[in-house]
This record gives sequence, C-alpha cells and structure tokens, in this order.
Amino acid sequence: MSNTPYRLHYNENPLGPSPLVLDRIRTHLAGLSFYPPRDDEALRNRLAEFCGRGVTPAHLFTSYSGSEALDLIARVFLAPGDEVIVCGPTFHVYERTASRQGAKVVDVPLDHEDYSVRVDAVMEAVTARTRLVYLGNPNNPTGSIVTRDDMDRLYRDLPGSVTLVSDEVYHQFVTRPDYPDSPADAVAGRNVIVLHSFSKVYGLAGLRVGVVISRPDIIERLAELRRTFHLGSLEMEAAAAAIGDQDHVAQSVALAERGKQTLYAAFDRLGVACWPSEGNFVLFRTPVPADELTARLAERGILVGSGSRFGLTHSIRVSAGLPEANEAFLSALEQILIDHRQTVATEGR
Ligand SMILES: Cc1ncc(COP(=O)(O)O)c(C=O)c1O
Repeated sequence: MSNTPYRLHYNENPLGPSPLVLDRIRTHLAGLSFYPPRDDEALRNRLAEFCGRGVTPAHLFTSYSGSEALDLIARVFLAPGDEVIVCGPTFHVYERTASRQGAKVVDVPLDHEDYSVRVDAVMEAVTARTRLVYLGNPNNPTGSIVTRDDMDRLYRDLPGSVTLVSDEVYHQFVTRPDYPDSPADAVAGRNVIVLHSFSKVYGLAGLRVGVVISRPDIIERLAELRRTFHLGSLEMEAAAAAIGDQDHVAQSVALAERGKQTLYAAFDRLGVACWPSEGNFVLFRTPVPADELTARLAERGILVGSGSRFGLTHSIRVSAGLPEANEAFLSALEQILIDHRQTVATEGR
C-alpha cells in the first residue's frame, strides 16, 4: 500500500484539476506581485456565457468558496430571532452560518427511508420568522436530490418572505432526469439562491472559488459584502480555465460514476446497505460504529467521512476514488467486517 493516504473523506476530484488550469496558473505566477482586477467581472462574463439559459453576469456572484457564499447569504438574510429550516442529515455549514447570525435552526429531517425532502413537513415548519430553507441538492452526506416536482411545490407554497437556498455543488454528477434546472428558475425570477463550487468536479478545493446564481436583486445584496479585491488572480484565472475544459469535467464525472458502480456492487456482495447517490460519494450503513470503522480504516491509510458528524452513528460517507483507492477501501472494509462478525459470534457464544 502507498504511504500517501487514500483521501475518500472530502469528495474531492481524484484526477485533480485540468492540465489546462495548471498551465494557466503557471503562466500567471510571474504576475503575482500585481494586484488582481478589482472585481470579478471577467469571470462573471465567462460564467454567464457558459451557463447560458438566460443567465447574465447580473445573476452571478463569485465568492471565496461555496462555504464563504453560505456565510454571506446568512449575513444578508438573517438577524437574531429569524428562523431557517435545514433538512438533516445535511451539510453542517448551513446550521453553523445561520446560528452565527443569531437565527434559530429548525431541523425537518429527510425521509428516513430514501432521504427525500418531506415537503409537507417543511411547509408545516414555516413560521412568520422563517427566512431561508436550505436544500442540499444533491445532499451531503446522503447523495439524495430534491426533485423538479418538489422544487415546484416549494416555489408554489412557500410565502414570498422565504428564500430557498439550493446547494448544488455536486450538480455535475447528477444523472436523474427529474433534477430541477435551478439556474433557469432563478432567471425566471423564482425565490432561489443556487450555489456552485469549483472544489468538487473542477478539482480546485485548495484555491477556494464558489459561485452564486440568483435574481439580480439578491445578487446586489450579496455584492454589497464584496471585498475590495474580490478574488485573487490565481482563483479567477483558474476558474475561467476550468470552465474551458469540459472534457476534463466529463472524464471526472465518468470516473466517479464507475467508482460508484464498483462500490454499489461490492456493498451488495458484502451485504452492506447503501443509498444510491447523485454525488461523487456514497453513504453506507455499517454494523461497526461509524467512528470506530473510520479510525480502523485510517490506520490502514484510508480516510472516509464518519457519519457521526451528521448524527449518523452507523453510517459512513465514502468518496468515489481512483480504482486503486476504491479497491483498497473495499478490501479493508471486508476484512474489518469479517473480524467484526467473528468477534460478535465469539461474544455471543
Ligand atoms: C453540500 C456542500 N456544499 C458546499 C460545500 C462547500 O464547498 P467549498 O466551500 O469547498 O466550495 C461542500 C463541501 O464539501 C458541500 O459538500
């Protein structure tokens, strides 16, 4: 086994960034003593052209990562005493950024069986103080999506004072046909804030670039919080170059799909329950407590995401990696499960 750990814990792109991005970064290293452009206009123009579907630069805001965008959204929308709805288990940054503004976080758990959003329950949880409803789409850690029909019901039934935050940082991996087109919804004037990131399929987690797509009036409010120099030059150049290499995106998506199929097949063979995922990761259930299994895999150089961070004491989220990493993970898991069954059988005697 290699000494470098297999990183299957953060849903990164195991192929790394596109070679075109690395070339662009190298070209710009010589200019690092220069200030970057004051704003992100060039990148927003490029993004608007790429998005199509009526998205203009006025529908776009770029940020120092998706996580920073979530923080800015909370700062713009929330004040002490406001409420937000999250649908757990889900990405913890929604709760963290909302509570930091003094908002009350109301959890409307996803369906226990298939982790779909319970739209009726969300509607029941809405009060006059509700400002935001956060949707992971696809959701981290479950890999489930919010369907076109469910989004339409939410648009129809939520009061105008409530804005949907549709976190779509994994959208490139989605294959289900009932996935909504939220950027088009934003252009059509729906009350939605769509979040994208360059950390996932583009393989640029280390640089920190996020994108918000929303109605121009919402974008203007976010833009008021813009820094003087909005993003660094490497961030802006790398993001623009990354959009320009959609072959790399397609290769990365195909690799994740093959990885997920390998994981599904092996989980089936091992009798391990898992959930079909529209992201580049899979959540599975384990008879060994999640923290213990995570630690035992880490001892073998395999890093995975324990579900305990999401309140799932017997589930683990594993990213789809390169074939070698997937195989290393699966053979270690099989061995640990065999040991566990033997221990249980011995103790039961
Ligand atoms: C659902 C979800 N949203 C947002 C992010 C934030 O991505 P970043 O801050 O790297 O852009 C992540 C990262 O893991 C995520 O899983």
